[in-house]
Amino acid sequence: MIQLQNIEYTYPEGTKGLEAVSLQIEQGSRVAFLGENGAGKSSLFLVLNGIHKPQKGKYVLDGKQFGFSTKERKQMAHKVGYVFQDPEVQLFAASVYEDVAFGPFNLDLDRKDIEIRVEKYLNLLRIQELKDKAPHQLSYGQKKQVAVAGVLAMEPEIILFDEPFAWLDNRHKQIMNEIIDDLNKQAKTVLISTHNPDFAYEWADQVILMKEGRIIAAGSPEKIMSNRVLMQEIGMELPLVVQFTKKVGMNKHSRSIQSLLREI
Ligand SMILES: Nc1ncnc2c1ncn2[C@@H]1O[C@H](COP(=O)(O)OP(=O)(O)OP(=O)(O)O)[C@@H](O)[C@H]1O
Ligand SMILES: [Mg+2]
Repeated sequence: MIQLQNIEYTYPEGTKGLEAVSLQIEQGSRVAFLGENGAGKSSLFLVLNGIHKPQKGKYVLDGKQFGFSTKERKQMAHKVGYVFQDPEVQLFAASVYEDVAFGPFNLDLDRKDIEIRVEKYLNLLRIQELKDKAPHQLSYGQKKQVAVAGVLAMEPEIILFDEPFAWLDNRHKQIMNEIIDDLNKQAKTVLISTHNPDFAYEWADQVILMKEGRIIAAGSPEKIMSNRVLMQEIGMELPLVVQFTKKVGMNKHSRSIQSLLREI
């Protein structure tokens, strides 16, 4: 379980990234973070994965307080995987293969096991054909897929996806969806920041709304995302399925237009 209490994070040049952030996330849950550009979603993920050390507050993971020492941060990077919003920040090795191998290599696995892991995750993302390419030879969407493979290859318990669907075509969005579903089936905790209300409504079991570095609401998608006032606060439309059922006065609680179409 992840617990944050009163986290405050200010960037070195003085911008406040997070203010009084408290939350609780159970193991195995699916949590969507919603909020406008600059609301603090990525800043929060950077704290959760140990990259940003908050100036104030407490971070407790599975009952143990996280102190942000170099050693603890290293362990944290293995436990909490972070797929950056911008894959260009994440990729650094000379080839896709080496990039995906970097995490497992740092887990002190032997050579054979590293190879098995890399193959497994290149296959999972359906990007085997890219393995000898240099990251700069890839399209932006392909870079994102490589970044995802690299994080998953460490087999972390908690995965933070910052805008995982941005730049992906339909086929790869579908693949991402399947991967995310599979992670939850393995009881992993998945946190996703997104600007897509329909995805959040359908997928999440908890949504967290952020504004100006603070959490302004948290709860089930049904409760939070059908509240016009709250959604306006973060400049987001209500999910289409909610708009539709409200408009026609329907008493259905489908989580997506697709499932509503199946029901009626
Ligand atoms: N490296 C940085 N240095 C200084 N300020 C930063 C830095 N990164 C983010 N910020 C500031 O911190 C605040 C929160 O930004 P953050 O990137 O967490 O927002 P976000 O919710 O992820 O937005 P987006 O939807 O655009 O990804 C913003 O005011 C932003 O300008
Ligand atoms: Mg962001």
